Amino acid sequence: MKSQCLEIVRQKCESCKACPLAKTRNNVVFSDGNPSTAKIVFIGEAPGEVEDEMGIPFVGRAGQLMNEFLAEAGISREDDIYMINTVKCRPPENRVPTDEEKSACRKFLDAQIDIIKPEAIVLCGATALKSFVELDKKQTISKVRGKWMTVTVDGVEYKAITIFHPSYLLRNRSMEEGSPRRLMQQDLAEIKNTILGDRVMSEEKELVLA
Ligand code: URA
Repeated sequence: MKSQCLEIVRQKCESCKACPLAKTRNNVVFSDGNPSTAKIVFIGEAPGEVEDEMGIPFVGRAGQLMNEFLAEAGISREDDIYMINTVKCRPPENRVPTDEEKSACRKFLDAQIDIIKPEAIVLCGATALKSFVELDKKQTISKVRGKWMTVTVDGVEYKAITIFHPSYLLRNRSMEEGSPRRLMQQDLAEIKNTILGDRVMSEEKELVLA
């Protein structure tokens, strides 16, 4: 049922010409993951070059790093997560999407959340966060990340948490206590424990991820 509803939204999204990104995209990057089993929606910024070529979110370098962190935390990208972006088409040169682009795409984002009705929403980085929360100047990602909050989509409240965007972690490689990568590990462990409990992955999956 969820898949059928999402398919209708996908088709509309794929023919969308509501903003200038429609002219430069190779593919609309709609989603990845299993809508029937996913308890968590991960929201990124916008597709990059590889995502635009493949039509799948988070498959470039940042996505591969995200996969490593997810596997380490015991979160299955295939089963536990429905992965989407704030904006479904690639902004040229990977620039941050404009307000016009974000608002043109908002109906697709909201529809995806509304259909999945996740137990939690994970906001990856500033663009996703700012689509749901108004930040004052003192509230940087570093201060806001790792704290559960409530966001409302179409009148429904969802548990949400912010994490660093994996692109930021590509530029910050330290594993020292308190470093962005260590905080990412902590935040994903918190998400796993709160939403998925102490379930362990099957041996087969552990082997695949090793
Ligand atoms: N960064 C994002 O925010 N989304 C992607 O799909 C890839 C990189």
